[in-house]
Amino acid sequence: MIVLGVTGGIACYKAVELVRLLIKAEFKVRVIMTRSATEFVTPLTFQTLSGYPVATETFDLTQESEIGHINLADCADLFVVAPATANVIGKIAGGIADDLLTTVLMATQAPVLIAPAMNIHMYENPILQENLRRLRRIGYHIMEPADGYLACGYEGKGRLPDPEKIAGEVERLLKKKDLSGERLLITAGPNREPLDPVRYISNRSSGKMGYALARAAVRRGAEVALVSGPTALEPPAGARFIAVTTAADMREAVLGEYAQCTTVIMAAAVSDYHAAVVADKKMKRGEAAIELRLEPNPDILKDLGQRKDGKWLIGFAAETEDLTANAQKKLRDKNLDIVVANNVAETGSGFDGDTNIATIVDRTGATRSLPMMSKDELADRIYDHFLALKSPR
Ligand code: PMT
Repeated sequence: MIVLGVTGGIACYKAVELVRLLIKAEFKVRVIMTRSATEFVTPLTFQTLSGYPVATETFDLTQESEIGHINLADCADLFVVAPATANVIGKIAGGIADDLLTTVLMATQAPVLIAPAMNIHMYENPILQENLRRLRRIGYHIMEPADGYLACGYEGKGRLPDPEKIAGEVERLLKKKDLSGERLLITAGPNREPLDPVRYISNRSSGKMGYALARAAVRRGAEVALVSGPTALEPPAGARFIAVTTAADMREAVLGEYAQCTTVIMAAAVSDYHAAVVADKKMKRGEAAIELRLEPNPDILKDLGQRKDGKWLIGFAAETEDLTANAQKKLRDKNLDIVVANNVAETGSGFDGDTNIATIVDRTGATRSLPMMSKDELADRIYDHFLALKSPR
């Protein structure tokens, strides 16, 4: 059962289409509307489409005896709020439960998906952004609003994502716990290799790919240890988090965790070099050029491939050309089971953004090129490929 909370914004009409799509995909849907949502679309529209009475009032005795707000909270496999206004996001983040929607949401133990829709300046408001960060930290799934023409006359980010996209996200979040029993060791982010107490060399990895893998694995029932270089991201809820800085720290953490895991996924952009000499005091600026001598770091994944010990090893390949051939070479050289190659020179792919364009190659020689998709979606596609490879039908 999906419980859909509809809050008062012009995008309410898209929630009607969302209900239609969910019913078509054979989900049961119960709708809760806030009072302001009923100003945009009548409860009768949602009731007719969903086949269930629409809940609107906390203290309505008829509704309470027919549905019961705790029953609504308990029956949800997933709670979706779409569209979610800045107001309702603020209330949820602040723990306020002053209407039926926020009360049921407070009482539910189901995963929560929030699809914000609002004016661009409201969306960019630091208070709203802080509230979204807080909800992400707690483990709520937050969709990015779409870019485009907004009903208020502005152009920019703030549109409710297309109902097809929200329905796709619902299907993704309701996937069964097909990774239960797996103990995944995932690496993410960059390393920092110090030059002196205040300077370091690093790379542009944000950690988003590795964190998306950790989130998806937790959702699909795996135990997850996430070894992460320095990032600006919140550690994913439900994963054991191990913070590291240098490639040497990362290697030590990975080797320390290796015996307990079933599968390793190296999404980190491990530093290939460190400074041969690290100054213990801040290097002074001078007029003369200075030379940095860099020494190679050990290849963590290659070391794991040499011992293997019955583990499944999944590597990434950051490439700028000949994606498939280079990925196949890395798979062989490092004795891996799967390599996910991403073209880091292509727009919408690789470092830092929310999307990626990847080709998955595996040890059977199979190759699958995927279109641009969110890093969250790619994480699920990687796990689908992994499970199919592990237990071919
Ligand atoms: O963090 P994001 O901003 O979301 O960006 C994601 C990403 C682009 C960093 C990610 O998708 C990615 O491609 N990660 C691997 C980057 C990389 O180091 O690629 P590589 O081709 O140099 O290394 C191949 C594999 O060996 C990788 O799995 C890497 O983690 C591993 N490696 C590399 C060097 C080293 N010394 N030890 C390693 O284990």
